[in-house]
Amino acid sequence: MNETALTVHQTARPHGFPTAEHFAFVESTLPDPAPGSALVENLYWSVDPYHREMMDDVPGGFALDAPLEGRTIGRVIASRTPRLAEGEIVFHRRGWRTHAVVTPEEMRQLPRFDAVPLTAYLSTLGGTGLTAYVGLTRIARLQEGEDLFVSAAAGGVGTATGRFAKLLGAGRLVGSVGSAEKVRHLTREVGYDAAFDYHDGPAADLLGKAAPGGIDVFVDNVGGEQLAAAVGALREFGRIVRVGTISQYNTPDATSPRFDYADIVEKSIRMEGFLVSNYRDLQEELYEFAVPHIQSGRLAPDETVVDGFDGIVDAFLGMLHGENTGKIIVRARAQAPTRTGGRTSVS
Ligand SMILES: NC(=O)c1ccc[n+]([C@@H]2O[C@H](COP(=O)([O-])OP(=O)(O)OC[C@H]3O[C@@H](n4cnc5c(N)ncnc54)[C@H](OP(=O)(O)O)[C@@H]3O)[C@@H](O)[C@H]2O)c1
Repeated sequence: MNETALTVHQTARPHGFPTAEHFAFVESTLPDPAPGSALVENLYWSVDPYHREMMDDVPGGFALDAPLEGRTIGRVIASRTPRLAEGEIVFHRRGWRTHAVVTPEEMRQLPRFDAVPLTAYLSTLGGTGLTAYVGLTRIARLQEGEDLFVSAAAGGVGTATGRFAKLLGAGRLVGSVGSAEKVRHLTREVGYDAAFDYHDGPAADLLGKAAPGGIDVFVDNVGGEQLAAAVGALREFGRIVRVGTISQYNTPDATSPRFDYADIVEKSIRMEGFLVSNYRDLQEELYEFAVPHIQSGRLAPDETVVDGFDGIVDAFLGMLHGENTGKIIVRARAQAPTRTGGRTSVS
């Protein structure tokens, strides 16, 4: 067992893109679990766009010079509660650190499905997949044959949205991404019918070419100019699923998108945002939907896995700059590889 623990702190508030200078790795001795708790050695960490929002001085945001929160999977290595056995694999939110002391109330035991890798509980079967599932089934209320446009389509939510949408019987799938390589990945690997690089021109022109017949649903991870373009491309009774606004997280002075408000009325468009934290009750439904498809090989989890806890800050910063394909996950270095379909490994 490692005798020291490493914890990431945020040390300053960024304006614009954060850098490694806004974080510090802090070393300490291994914490002792108090009675009723257990010591968990973390194995996999999720870094997410919402962490960037929490870096700002906002209610509920990260405190400076203190441990951060984040979704994590770990193994119990010492227990002082009969409810957590040593060796047990658990999910909890005390991320950004190699070790955490957790109580049974602060963690969730993960179901173990045959042929489902642990990383899937942070990607397709985790908050990322749940976001995609809620967006399609509860917010868009997707009907068979409907055509979709998805922004940030090669990321965690975007790839899960594309794969789930096809399984749910969607029609044509169009995605927007930040590079030509991601355009190829979407159409060759993920099952999108068309894709474009949003750097290549005005979003309205690019979307018009990729979806000349229009769209029924827009799953929006980005906001900004692409949201305005989608309003123009939506058909009658179209839906906009507002998932996130990553185009603004690092550009707080960006202006809001301009679109024709009359379109919303004349095309009977519905725009609805949501937070996945309000839909946790759908977790079992997501397992029922997705697990058989993972087991049959029809649903490959898209993941970029970064090896080593010391890479967690760079993984987070890289994700903000679009370096990931699929869900970005950090893996403790000693981990044996797990089986995950369309995964890229970087170190
Ligand atoms: N509502 C909820 O409860 C909920 C839950 C989870 C996630 N979200 C939101 O969903 C979105 C996607 O999250 P994720 O975890 O799946 O992250 P992700 O898409 O895996 O990673 C972020 C991606 O955003 C893209 N990006 C960065 N800056 C951009 C910009 N200025 N314009 C367009 N694209 C940009 C990058 O891809 P490119 O290379 O394509 O630029 C990057 O790979 C985020 O907005 C997040 O906040 C919301």
